[in-house]
Amino acid sequence: MTLSIVAAVAALCAILADPAISVTSHPLLLVVSFDGFHPDYVRPDVTPHLARFRLASASPPYMRNVFPTKTFVNHFTVATGLYPETHGVLDNYMFDRHNRSMHYTYEQFHYNENVVPIWTQNENSGGGRHSGVMMWPGSEFPYQGKTSTHVAVYNYSTPWSSRVDTVISWIKDDKKPANLVFAYFEEPDNTGHVFGVGSHEIKNQIVRVDTTVKYIVERIKEENLENKINLILLSDHGMDTVTYDRIIYLDNYISNKTCKVEVTGPNAFINPNPGKYDEVYSNLKNASKTHGTFDVFKKEQLLDRWHMKNTDRLNGLLYVLAKPGYAFWDEYFKDLLKHTTKEKFKAGTHGYDNEEPPMRAFFMASGPLFKRNFTAQPFDNVDIYPLISHVMDLKQLASNAVRPNGTVAAVEQLLAERPGSRAGGPCAKGSLSVVACVASAAMTLRTASRYL
Ligand SMILES: *[C@@H]1O[C@H](CO)[C@@H](O)[C@H](O)[C@H]1NC(C)=O
Ligand SMILES: *[C@@H]1O[C@H](CO)[C@@H](O)[C@H](O)[C@H]1NC(C)=O
Ligand SMILES: *[C@@H]1O[C@H](CO)[C@@H](O)[C@H](O)[C@H]1NC(C)=O
Ligand SMILES: *[C@@H]1O[C@H](CO)[C@@H](O)[C@H](O)[C@H]1NC(C)=O
Ligand SMILES: *[C@@H]1O[C@H](CO)[C@@H](O)[C@H](O)[C@H]1NC(C)=O
Ligand SMILES: *[C@@H]1O[C@H](CO)[C@@H](O)[C@H](O)[C@H]1NC(C)=O
Ligand SMILES: [Zn+2]
Repeated sequence: MTLSIVAAVAALCAILADPAISVTSHPLLLVVSFDGFHPDYVRPDVTPHLARFRLASASPPYMRNVFPTKTFVNHFTVATGLYPETHGVLDNYMFDRHNRSMHYTYEQFHYNENVVPIWTQNENSGGGRHSGVMMWPGSEFPYQGKTSTHVAVYNYSTPWSSRVDTVISWIKDDKKPANLVFAYFEEPDNTGHVFGVGSHEIKNQIVRVDTTVKYIVERIKEENLENKINLILLSDHGMDTVTYDRIIYLDNYISNKTCKVEVTGPNAFINPNPGKYDEVYSNLKNASKTHGTFDVFKKEQLLDRWHMKNTDRLNGLLYVLAKPGYAFWDEYFKDLLKHTTKEKFKAGTHGYDNEEPPMRAFFMASGPLFKRNFTAQPFDNVDIYPLISHVMDLKQLASNAVRPNGTVAAVEQLLAERPGSRAGGPCAKGSLSVVACVASAAMTLRTASRYL
């Protein structure tokens, strides 16, 4: 066999492995989050496109998330691979350093300046890598002074199809094509909060998610990116429903004369005034024992498995967590009640223990890097950062950067053996196994429709 045949076949392999030469030369990954999408929402009759997508994907029955099962907490865990106590985002609403209410601020996402989200690490890895982040919680703040090349700030009014079109334009950008993109969609969470799980309103949003997945896949095919792009669909948490008779009024046990409260749904931080810590704790403890509808924790009593307590942000605070199906009265519930009656009140809520099945997150991965129609073992969302870092071949973190808590061990099960993979497939650089290379290239063609 002459060298020129080897070279020709190698070139063919390169073309087949990388047909869309107008985009990044790096592996290409789009991560899409649908807020509050529980894995059980995928049903052939309601979400036919997601059901078919699963057949082309590697997916576990559910993904384990972190406590508290809240939006900012889990999205930042996905972005950093860190537990909440290390990245510092402990809830959507929390106390700032002056003990004032804090919601979506630079400070909230900068507990530790050495924490580097993966969209930043992608760009730090050089070689013309560019990140795009569409409305992902925490994405428009700079980290170590850097924001992603392409960023869109959260805007509820931006139509979902425009968000998808913008993401595609980032991937196809002439000068700075994105190789790693994150996109966020606020449903079915938003509607689920108002109407509860099982409502026809939330079902409509689940269908809207399905239609959007169809649109994303269509756009990928139109742009001829099918054999290039990898697509991960995921969520941050599920949802449960609270009726009015299961609302807990903390005001019955503690007062704003002795403490400040920062509450959202089933979770609350309580900051006792100077000298009032023991009194506030014993009042809450008594109420918790009497009613059994919530638990109260001193910082050091928070469960180890939550990986939430070892942070200065909880110094001097107490924490209360409602039992499943219960929640603390807050401003949001007050607004909801204005539009309904106590009898009909049914609010969706989340934030409970991450071991509660209704709080579970979903995950599906499709594209050349991933196995198809593969039911994986459940893994943790802290493992997504190492997964992305591994498949995108990112640079080692700087020595002062905070190393992720997740590992690639539990997510390697998702990965396809692929031609030209770094594991050394038959088309790997320097390989002379031409027959195997051509055979696997033909296989790539036969399985061309990656997303069904
Ligand atoms: C949000 O999007 C809407 C619809 O595209 C647009 O009219 C509005 O100006 C945007 N708001 C901001 C703050 O960008
Ligand atoms: C404290 O609570 C009382 C009764 O709930 C309320 O009227 C008052 O405005 C609150 N004070 C502050 C400072 O929030
Ligand atoms: C404990 O709670 C019960 C019921 O809320 C109340 O009647 C009782 O006075 C409380 N005891 C103390 C010591 O606060
Ligand atoms: C905030 O609250 C904590 C806990 O009660 C307290 O130790 C700290 O001094 C307070 N900080 C300010 C700035 O008030
Ligand atoms: C997916 O896998 C299941 C079980 O492993 C199998 O029965 C089914 O035929 C597969 N479907 C497709 C479309 O590959
Ligand atoms: C998580 O990672 C951080 C930073 O690498 C480390 O300090 C912390 O101990 C880890 N947490 C656990 C539970 O391993
Ligand atoms: Zn959420």
